[in-house]
Amino acid sequence: MSEMNPNSETARDFDVVLFGATGFTGRQTVAYFARHAPAEVRWAIAGRDAARLDDVARAWGDPPRIVCDSHDADACVDLARRARVVLTTVGPYAVHGQALVEACIATNTHYVDITGETAWVRDLVDRFHEAAASSGTRIVPCCGFDSVPSDLGTLIAVEHLRAAHDTGCTRVRAFHRGRGGINGGTIASFLAMQESGDAARMRDPILLNPPGMRDPGRPEAEPDPMLPHWEPDIRGFSAPFIMGPINTRVVRRSAALEESWQRPYGSGFRYQEYWKGSGMLGLAETMGMAWSQATFPLLAGFGPLRGLLKRMLPAAGSGPSEATMDNGFFRCELIADGADGQRIRVTLADRGDPGNRATVKMLCESALAMALQGDMLPGAPTRGGILTPATAFGQVLRARLENAGMEISIDDPWKPE
Ligand SMILES: NC(=O)c1ccc[n+]([C@@H]2O[C@H](COP(=O)([O-])OP(=O)(O)OC[C@H]3O[C@@H](n4cnc5c(N)ncnc54)[C@H](OP(=O)(O)O)[C@@H]3O)[C@@H](O)[C@H]2O)c1
Repeated sequence: MSEMNPNSETARDFDVVLFGATGFTGRQTVAYFARHAPAEVRWAIAGRDAARLDDVARAWGDPPRIVCDSHDADACVDLARRARVVLTTVGPYAVHGQALVEACIATNTHYVDITGETAWVRDLVDRFHEAAASSGTRIVPCCGFDSVPSDLGTLIAVEHLRAAHDTGCTRVRAFHRGRGGINGGTIASFLAMQESGDAARMRDPILLNPPGMRDPGRPEAEPDPMLPHWEPDIRGFSAPFIMGPINTRVVRRSAALEESWQRPYGSGFRYQEYWKGSGMLGLAETMGMAWSQATFPLLAGFGPLRGLLKRMLPAAGSGPSEATMDNGFFRCELIADGADGQRIRVTLADRGDPGNRATVKMLCESALAMALQGDMLPGAPTRGGILTPATAFGQVLRARLENAGMEISIDDPWKPE
């Protein structure tokens, strides 16, 4: 049975609780809220270790603390009951995440995370979508670099084609570039997926489609690209993008959900994504990328080598230096085709390491969208379920990210330079 409406500000102690506040990205979410959350937002931090929470709180204006172990189901319910929105960076999510999702649904508390573990998200869809949908609880995984630029960018393209040209969208291809570091927590999640067998499940191109929309013959069920190729539309070489097998599943879920709500993206809609090689070095770069993406999972899938990788790679709790995070960037260009031959380009870009600076901005702004603009979100006030960034936040998140300094632009018409 669902509890008090989380959209009512008086019903809960806090608007947002930041769970995992002592971790590498968690500490950055605390800094983001301390610097950017409007004064009226009531927020608290949460984690499993009281002394470490005190250290984080002392550095950032002494916010209230909640001690909670994510494996303690009662503690998760107590935490969820006190919040309107829970933002969690406690991962690997397949290992540590399920009790909190169940607690949020039981207490009708909205939820955001930055998982890229799509096999885990599929389990959430199968177990909890109906319950979350019927109580209007928004459970929104994948609100970091995977998969906000891909998912929100596609929605922006689709809605632009609809509004400006009164036409559907038949295909979107996203081309990424970026620079950043890698977190120990991300490596821990990747290795956990290899260990559990989830990595193999993630090869399904329509893994996250709703039941009844999982026919492998559907037009969007395209296999992931494996090889570099010359791409005339970007006048260069492109390679498979490492996050593509995550992002494509999320975008296809958004398209399928919209179709189920009688707002299809377009007839036979397809989505794919790539790394955009640079200039003359493009062929070598994209070949190196395709090779490393094919071999690394093979190495990590082999038990004894996985043990070695665990010892060699950064440990959970660690991440790139401040300089690496400040000097990174991402640029995601989405080329979208309209049903009547239109071609437009949507670009999302920002400074800062995509896996940290951009991820933290996208995650925190997603939580703030729910806390501050619940009545403006798509499908408000009743929409709930295991949602995607596009179906949960839509243009509200676009405006918040632009306001927070992200470049989001549309070229219409667009032709290759
Ligand atoms: N989508 C993206 O772009 C993106 C980017 C970065 C990270 N991620 C994902 O985000 C997650 C976190 O990454 P990270 O680099 O921040 O990792 P991290 O530094 O290892 O942080 C993990 C956090 O989980 C907490 N934790 C672990 N077990 C717990 C439990 N039983 N109860 C309560 N808290 C528990 C840890 O607490 P302690 O501090 O007490 O150890 C820590 O705060 C990972 O799954 C990673 O893959 C995604």
